[in-house]
Amino acid sequence: MTRVALVGTGVVGGSWALVFARAGLEVAIHDADAAAAGRVIDFARTALADLAAQGIAAKEPADAVLARLSVAPSLERALETADHVQESVPERVEIKRALYRTLDAVAPAATVLASSTSGLPASAFTEGLAGRARCVVAHPINPPHLVPLVEIVPAPWTAPETVERTTALMRAIGQSPIRLRREINGFVVNRLQSALLAEAFRLVEDGVVDADEVDRAMTDGLGLRWFFLGPFQTIDLNAKDGVAEYCRNLGPMYYDLAREQADAREWNAALVARVESELRRTVPADALPARRSWRDRVLATLGTVKQRIAQEAGG
Ligand SMILES: NC(=O)c1ccc[n+]([C@@H]2O[C@H](COP(=O)([O-])OP(=O)(O)OC[C@H]3O[C@@H](n4cnc5c(N)ncnc54)[C@H](O)[C@@H]3O)[C@@H](O)[C@H]2O)c1
Repeated sequence: MTRVALVGTGVVGGSWALVFARAGLEVAIHDADAAAAGRVIDFARTALADLAAQGIAAKEPADAVLARLSVAPSLERALETADHVQESVPERVEIKRALYRTLDAVAPAATVLASSTSGLPASAFTEGLAGRARCVVAHPINPPHLVPLVEIVPAPWTAPETVERTTALMRAIGQSPIRLRREINGFVVNRLQSALLAEAFRLVEDGVVDADEVDRAMTDGLGLRWFFLGPFQTIDLNAKDGVAEYCRNLGPMYYDLAREQADAREWNAALVARVESELRRTVPADALPARRSWRDRVLATLGTVKQRIAQEAGG
């Protein structure tokens, strides 16, 4: 059995706790703020109850999952038996640098040190460490207990074995890892999202459509296919003979569009205010927490639908 230490248990670390514990792993929790560490157990209890209330079958009673979570009395104690450390402290390079010096000095030599960082490459905070070969990024999509993708991103000095072990662990706990061959700004998911958001803001700024219409272009259009097919799989089905025919037919159009879209624009304050005021008409600021809970319930339902599709139709 792999033992996990979670270091930093705010928004994303709390969800990680549930991912590892429900997969059967013992999880030691450490946060610089003891109250945050304690809140993880409450978060996990509530999340498990929410899933049960939705009728989503659990493999075992919630208490059995919760029993695998323990708040460690110190960072050292959290690390002492860990095979895998999942670090989720704030996205500030000086915090991560200082913490990794300690993690590398204290964690057993064979322990993998994986960071949840959304954008900082591992090379930015592990360079001078004796054990830098065991450091890697394992970037989740929030909340990881409902969204399985994890981006595994090595620094130039990350050992292949570290990447292998982390990928295998993520698969074993039910996540869906992709392995980047090298560091790149934004990794893969945020690069894809960046291209889409740039165009979404451009369309609103240029008065072509409102924010709501951009959102419906996704939720009633592209998103329905993208829920279960990636962009390449999608275009492969949109021409009689598949992807090559699609690219022959539409490649020149997309090339022209890409040239039009090449003018990078800042999201200026007026534009952001315009989008915000439109969004607040349907979801007022004080309704955002309830809307997040709604999102999580929908994500949980979609997860079960996806499993059923994979079982019935072959994923
Ligand atoms: N929130 C997201 O949507 C999301 C998604 C994917 C990845 N991430 C990444 O995960 C990491 C954490 O993000 P978050 O949103 O959970 O942040 P957060 O602010 O919610 O939680 C960070 C936690 O780290 C603790 N902490 C601070 N310094 C510490 C230290 N030295 N040792 C131990 N604990 C410490 C804080 O007390 C806090 O509880 C970041 O690198 C972020 O980029 C976040």
